[in-house]
Amino acid sequence: MALWGGRFSTGPDEAFKQFNDSLPFDYQLAEQDIIGSVAWAGALKQVDVLNQQEYDDLVAALNTLLDEVKANPQAVAVAGHEDIHSYVESALINKVGDLAKKLHTGRSRNDQVATDFRLWCRDTADHILDAIADLKAEFIALAERELGTILPGYTHLQRAQPVLFSHWCMAYVEMLERDESRLTDAKKRMNFCPLGSGALAGTAYPIDRQTLAEGLGFTAATRNSLDAVSDRDFVVELLSCASISMIHLSRMAEDLIFYNSGEAGFVELSDGVTSGSSLMPQKKNPDALELIRGKTGRVFGAFSAMMMTLKALPLAYNKDMQEDKEGLFDAMPTWLACIHMAQACIKGIKVNAEKTLAAAKGGHSNATELADYLVAKGIPFREGHHIVGTLVQMAITEGNNLEDLSLEQFKSVHSIFESDVYPVLEIDACIKARQALGGTSLEQVTSAIDNAKKSANKDV
Ligand code: ARG
Repeated sequence: MALWGGRFSTGPDEAFKQFNDSLPFDYQLAEQDIIGSVAWAGALKQVDVLNQQEYDDLVAALNTLLDEVKANPQAVAVAGHEDIHSYVESALINKVGDLAKKLHTGRSRNDQVATDFRLWCRDTADHILDAIADLKAEFIALAERELGTILPGYTHLQRAQPVLFSHWCMAYVEMLERDESRLTDAKKRMNFCPLGSGALAGTAYPIDRQTLAEGLGFTAATRNSLDAVSDRDFVVELLSCASISMIHLSRMAEDLIFYNSGEAGFVELSDGVTSGSSLMPQKKNPDALELIRGKTGRVFGAFSAMMMTLKALPLAYNKDMQEDKEGLFDAMPTWLACIHMAQACIKGIKVNAEKTLAAAKGGHSNATELADYLVAKGIPFREGHHIVGTLVQMAITEGNNLEDLSLEQFKSVHSIFESDVYPVLEIDACIKARQALGGTSLEQVTSAIDNAKKSANKDV
C-alpha cells in the first residue's frame, strides 16, 4: 500500500512502480529507519501528540520490528513496498493498528531518509576506520619483520636509489593515516540531524530538535530545513574519501604485482590470496591485488555518478536524490573488502631479501652517492653530476657496476678521485646517508615505526 493514495484514482503502472520503488535497495536502511522512528516517537510525546501509553506501545512494536528485520533483512527487500519508510509504517500498522498512523505526524520521508542515510554512513565510516587501523598495523608489523631488508627504490619504474623495504611499508602507513584523518573529518561534518526539517520548510510542531539530535548520537540538529533535506554532501565526501583511499590501495596493489612478478621476484604472495590458471599449471596469479586495482574504478565511478546526480538540482528534495543510494551501497562494502584483502596480502607476504638486495645493487643506483662524494671534495653538484654520468657510461659499456671500476678508470675522468670513493659506493652507505627527517636510514625508519605505533595506541 502506498503512503499517498488519497489524491489518486488509480494505482501506479507496474512498470512505473518497479522504476520508482527503492525498497529493493533501501531495505538496507531498515535498522536506521526504525531507530529514527523510535526517536521521532519520543519527539511526538514531547509535544503531546502521543501520550505515554501510545509512546510505549509504539516503541515496543518498533523494537520487535527491529529484531525481525535484523533476523531477516532480505525478506524486507522483496516485501513489495515503495520504500523502507512505507515498509516500516505498514509493518507497524500490522502490529499496533491505527496508532501507527500517528507516527508520521510532522515528519516527511524527506527528513526521514536524510536522517536514516546519515546514520548508515556514520556506522559504515566506523567499520572502515577499524579496517584501516588493522591494515596499518599489518604494514607496521611487516616493516618491523623486514627491518634491514634493502629494496631498489624506483622513479619512472627505473631503479633510482636503494631504500629500506620497511620505508616502502611506512609510505603506505602515511597514506592510510591521511585516509583515516579524511574519513574522521567527513564523519564530523555528516553528524548533524535533519529530523524535524519536515518536507522542506521545517516541522509545524514545537519539537526540541537538539534533544532529538543528541538522542540519536548526532552532534547537533541541522540549521536550515531546505538544506537539511537536500544536502547529500556527506555522500559525496564519503565517496571521495573512498576514492582517494582506493587510489592508495591500487598503487600498493600495483607495486606488489610488480614485486611479485617473475621478472622482479622480490616478494611471494601467499597461496591464500592467489589463484592458478586453468590452462597453465605453473601460474600463480595475484588476483586479489588485481581485483583491488580493478575495483578502484568502480568506487570512483560511484563518486562521479553522485556528483553528476547532484549537479544543478534545484532545492529542495527531488526524486533524483533517490539515486544516492545504490552507488554508495556498492562502493562502501567494496572499499571495506579491498582494505581487508590488502591486509590479507600484506600478512602473508614473503620477501626475498637476497633478490631485492641484488636488484638494489644493480641499475647504478649509487650514482647519486658518487655525485655527493664529489660535492664533499668541493666540486659543484652540477659538474659532479656530469662527471658521474660519464662514469656510468663507462660502467654500462663494461657491463659492470660503478664500484667495479678501477681507481685508474675513476681518475681518467677526474683526478680528484681517491680510494676513499669505494666505501661511499657501498649500498649500506647509501642507506645510512639518508639521516634527515623522512629519509630511509635505519634510524629514521625505526622512528617512523615507533611514531606510527604510538599514534595507533592513542587512537584506540
Ligand atoms: N525513497 C525516497 C528516497 O530515497 C524517500 C524519499 C521520498 N520522498 C519523496 N518526496 N517522494 O529518496
